[in-house]
Amino acid sequence: MGDDWTELYRPKGLNEVVGNPKVIKELMQWAISWEEGRPSHRAVVLMGPPGVGKTSAALALANDLDWGVVEMNASDQRNAEAIRRVAGRGSRSETFTDEGEFLSSKDGRLKLIILDEADNIFGREDSGGMPAIADLVANTRQPVILIVNDFYELSRKSSAIKNNTLQLKVNRVQGGTMRNVLRRIALDQGLEVPQRVFETIIENSNGDMRAAVRDLQAVAEGNLDMDDDDAFVLGGRASTKSMYDLMRDILHGDDVNRARRTLFEVDERPEHVMMWLDENVPLEYKQPEDLARAFEHLSRTDIFLARVMRRQYFRFWAYANDLESMGVSSAKDRPNRGWVQYRFPSYIMKMSRSKAARAMKASISRKISAHTHTSTRRSAQEVLPFLRRMMHVERDFRLAMIDRLDLNIEETAFVMDKKVDSAEIKHLMQEVERVRQAREAGSRPIREAVKGPEERTAERKVEPKGKQSSLFEYNG
Ligand SMILES: Nc1ncnc2c1ncn2[C@@H]1O[C@H](COP(=O)(O)OP(=O)(O)O)[C@@H](O)[C@H]1O
Ligand SMILES: [Mg+2]
Repeated sequence: MGDDWTELYRPKGLNEVVGNPKVIKELMQWAISWEEGRPSHRAVVLMGPPGVGKTSAALALANDLDWGVVEMNASDQRNAEAIRRVAGRGSRSETFTDEGEFLSSKDGRLKLIILDEADNIFGREDSGGMPAIADLVANTRQPVILIVNDFYELSRKSSAIKNNTLQLKVNRVQGGTMRNVLRRIALDQGLEVPQRVFETIIENSNGDMRAAVRDLQAVAEGNLDMDDDDAFVLGGRASTKSMYDLMRDILHGDDVNRARRTLFEVDERPEHVMMWLDENVPLEYKQPEDLARAFEHLSRTDIFLARVMRRQYFRFWAYANDLESMGVSSAKDRPNRGWVQYRFPSYIMKMSRSKAARAMKASISRKISAHTHTSTRRSAQEVLPFLRRMMHVERDFRLAMIDRLDLNIEETAFVMDKKVDSAEIKHLMQEVERVRQAREAGSRPIREAVKGPEERTAERKVEPKGKQSSLFEYNG
């Protein structure tokens, strides 16, 4: 996935640069005036916020007219000299390399000189950049486009630049326009992107097309190498749609009342919301202080939820709700800029994955508890671990326990930490079967029937008769 989509989908021609139709038209007219040899202005200034297509428009224009391009980064001081050399020189019969070196050219193609980030040069007053640019825009024999974020500084410091250029203001890209571009990219990539994702990307981008395209790629790449977790998240997405909305309103939004309202609309149990926040807070909050405050609110939420359980007093839910919505939302200094793909809580995921194992443990514990007259819980916590250990090391004990507790093959495999279909477990079950047959035949005691070579000499004390038989009294 090495491709950078903002480059891959950079407009090739002016017709692909979306938004700002008037600017595009004026730019084209200016270019034609150059083609006709009577430029209305020698230079154009494209001004506007980042990511709205300024650089793209300049490159697309050159492409449409088959002009050569000399790109100079005006914030790079090394370019000042090159700019000075280019200024005032260059006729139609001359052209120059990208370093500003003049070559003789027969084809008479124009070369568009693009000075990107031209306002940065004024950070260094003594760099000589400004007079060089003023000279360039006044005398150039080749079309020049200056690209700036803020024209005010530049025009204030150099009336020459102000008077000799055509200034075009490029505005932020509208949401609807942006949606079309994003849809087209998704289509081209063969992606099915939920409408909701488009909306969030657009909302986050604040009219910055570059940011939107970058976010779309980030979302897509999160989904493309799909492992179990992602599949789980995607599968669960339809039903938990509102949960993602809630995360956005709490973690990304800065309106605590809205966060609270969404929480009520979502209609999920507060402990469930807490797990979602626990998973997603670190994705959005990067400042340590923000994180600390957010988790402080979550820990208080947890305390109230425990009180609800212990006292069966459900009014405390109100505190939990407010802490996790308004509390967590207000924990940040300011919202995070980028787009975050929220995750399904890994805790719930782990629990659902370990469900089979937990169910197995519970069923074995029930069997133990029937024999030991203790609770299943106690059997699970205090008996099972030792039983397992002993079964691992002692063959007779192993067989006897499987027999007595009547463990099935899955339970046996679980206790022995082996695969159900492993040869070892199959063999073990066959041995147990032999023990049972032997007992039914009433011929010999179990130990004799199953005695292995390593245990020939083993002797065990037999508990005195009359005592309640213990679980571990297995050889009689
Ligand atoms: N108006 C636009 N139309 C189509 N794509 C755009 C537009 N503006 C930005 N983009 C996308 O964002 C990327 C960066 O745009 P760019 O022209 O470098 O922005 P700027 O120079 O204004 O910061 C482009 O390669 C393209 O993918
Ligand atoms: Mg740019």
